Amino acid sequence: MTTPIIEVKTLSLWYGKFQALKDVTIDVEINRITALIGPSGCGKSTFLRTLNRMNDLIEGVRITGTVLFQGRAIYAKGTDLLDLRQNVGMVFQRPNPFPISVADNVTYGLRVHGITDRTVRDERLQRSLEAVHLWSELKDGLNRNALALSSEQQQRLCIARLIAVEPEVLLMDEPCSALDPIATARIEELMAELKKLYTIVIVTHNMQQAARVSDTTGYFLLGELIEVGPTPQVFTAPRDSRTEDYITGRFG
Ligand SMILES: Nc1ncnc2c1ncn2[C@@H]1O[C@H](COP(=O)(O)OP(=O)(O)OP(=O)(O)O)[C@@H](O)[C@H]1O
Ligand SMILES: [Mg+2]
Repeated sequence: MTTPIIEVKTLSLWYGKFQALKDVTIDVEINRITALIGPSGCGKSTFLRTLNRMNDLIEGVRITGTVLFQGRAIYAKGTDLLDLRQNVGMVFQRPNPFPISVADNVTYGLRVHGITDRTVRDERLQRSLEAVHLWSELKDGLNRNALALSSEQQQRLCIARLIAVEPEVLLMDEPCSALDPIATARIEELMAELKKLYTIVIVTHNMQQAARVSDTTGYFLLGELIEVGPTPQVFTAPRDSRTEDYITGRFG
């Protein structure tokens, strides 16, 4: 057993009258990759967003239950959302670099957090780009507009932008869905490296990807977390027949 960095207890979420998450309970273990799978519309993205309170931005959302990050209740009054999102950052399906230079993208969060020291910025810039294997390709093009990069480079850049503010957890919502198979394989390799330093929670439609990259897998269906366990067990000996139906391709 390792230590959970995030503990979710009986979490439910409603969009207006529609209940999108039902009593979800899960521990996210530190320095592990947790994959969330399940058919479209089952609440994977909604759940991921609850982990850094991104649903707060959506009108009409109501949440019950608790989410502890490093033992602290993130939905408690007085939670510093800027601080939470620095520690628990998110990468989206479509890479979303800002239409500014590569360097300014990576150091964006530092400016938000008031870190203006040039030496610190340059050092974080290099270290973050090195961590995602972009430094050697881009060190002579740091002033290039990020939108001119390939999709894979853009997704790596978005990961570098998170890393620059030294988070604990990286949330990834189908981070490879806009990438070709070769780029996908390289991003998967990168995830395996990143988990030494960070905890990763990844939503994926691709069950092979979940099986390849993750340590723990959770299966969502209609807002419920049906089953969660060590990835090899979930894929070879699921405890719930509904999980088995899904992973064997009987539906979804
Ligand atoms: N902003 C919103 N307002 C109202 N309903 C929403 C909103 N976002 C999502 N939903 C609904 O909540 C349910 C869960 O959606 P969610 O996007 O979390 O599913 P998902 O598992 O990520 O699906 P996909 O695999 O297609 O990305 C769906 O029924 C969806 O229509
Ligand atoms: Mg989704």
